[in-house]
Amino acid sequence: MNDYCFDLNLPVAHPLVDSGILTCNNEDEPVSWFCDHKDVSLEFTTFLDRLGLTMTYPILIFYTPAGQDIPIHIDGVVISDRVVMNWCVGGIDSQMQWYSLKDNNITEAKITTAGTPYTRYESEQVDLVHTQQIKWPSMVQIGIPHRITNYGPEKRWVLSCDISLKSNPEAGLTRAQAQEIFKPWM
Ligand SMILES: [Fe+2]
Repeated sequence: MNDYCFDLNLPVAHPLVDSGILTCNNEDEPVSWFCDHKDVSLEFTTFLDRLGLTMTYPILIFYTPAGQDIPIHIDGVVISDRVVMNWCVGGIDSQMQWYSLKDNNITEAKITTAGTPYTRYESEQVDLVHTQQIKWPSMVQIGIPHRITNYGPEKRWVLSCDISLKSNPEAGLTRAQAQEIFKPWM
């Protein structure tokens, strides 16, 4: 057990109605986009609902071509404690890496192709602290600097599910909350 990532064995197949929406794969650069609420499976939302949970927003899909990476960043503009449920499709040999900041210097805030804010870091600003493969699914910390490498032969998609308590539906989950809620499937 580490602070950055833990795998789950959930009693749901996957969170999509139809995996055919992953065919947008002609891009030769990393790209991300939100799917629609109607693309999220009822099986998955029902499972969350029974746990007192809801999707904060529809699934965010991250596509990374074979042989490429997603540079070091945080999702958002401040360091935080927020975990999301990521389901990895393809991308054999891909890895997620987490970093500590040498200083708490905020660098340049940018916007992803999905319209979400992120903050980039250069390798000189961080130290590598952990590396792990993302599974089906894994709960991953996105509030600290992280990076994806997809240097194997396969294209990679991640179905990224930001989940919140129904009682606080925009807050996301902290690592401790997620560990408590999903303990039966760890
Ligand atoms: Fe990220």
